[in-house]
Amino acid sequence: MAETLVISETATREQRYTELLPQLRAMVESERDLTANLANLAAALRQTFGFFWVGFYLVKDDQLVLGPFQGPIACTRINFGKGVCGTAWKEKRTVLVPDVDAFPGHIACSSLSRSEIVVPGFRNGEVALVLDVDSDQLNDFNSTDQMHLEKLMRLIETFL
Ligand code: SME
Repeated sequence: MAETLVISETATREQRYTELLPQLRAMVESERDLTANLANLAAALRQTFGFFWVGFYLVKDDQLVLGPFQGPIACTRINFGKGVCGTAWKEKRTVLVPDVDAFPGHIACSSLSRSEIVVPGFRNGEVALVLDVDSDQLNDFNSTDQMHLEKLMRLIETFL
């Protein structure tokens, strides 16, 4: 596998997603280990977009447990329905939070996080993991991020 990503320096965020996705597909197709793939995907997203925190929480028994991530240390366990991640799990949908201070029950792993998007991934119709991306900018995520990150989760579901 090529261990570098090729992303145009001047590309917009949308163009970056478009350039990135096929490279991520090639990356995970050559490796079947879940931890290895999630680790590289978190690194690729942070490297490409400079997000403050990017990582995965995996459903283990009745909690979300911290998985591979890039960024400052984070809370290790989140209960069903709690915070943005637990809400995405409970409601089985992407949760986009333009201002974390305005989200009731937001779990602040870092006071620097200002906006957030959490995208669930499914196995047999149940949430198996969530991707959590945090930004230190307010209102940093929109439907473009949602669409591309949901595509990424469809890719991840192929090797769960
Ligand atoms: N803010 C998340 C918790 C995880 S950290 O942001 C890494 C939440 O409210 O679920």
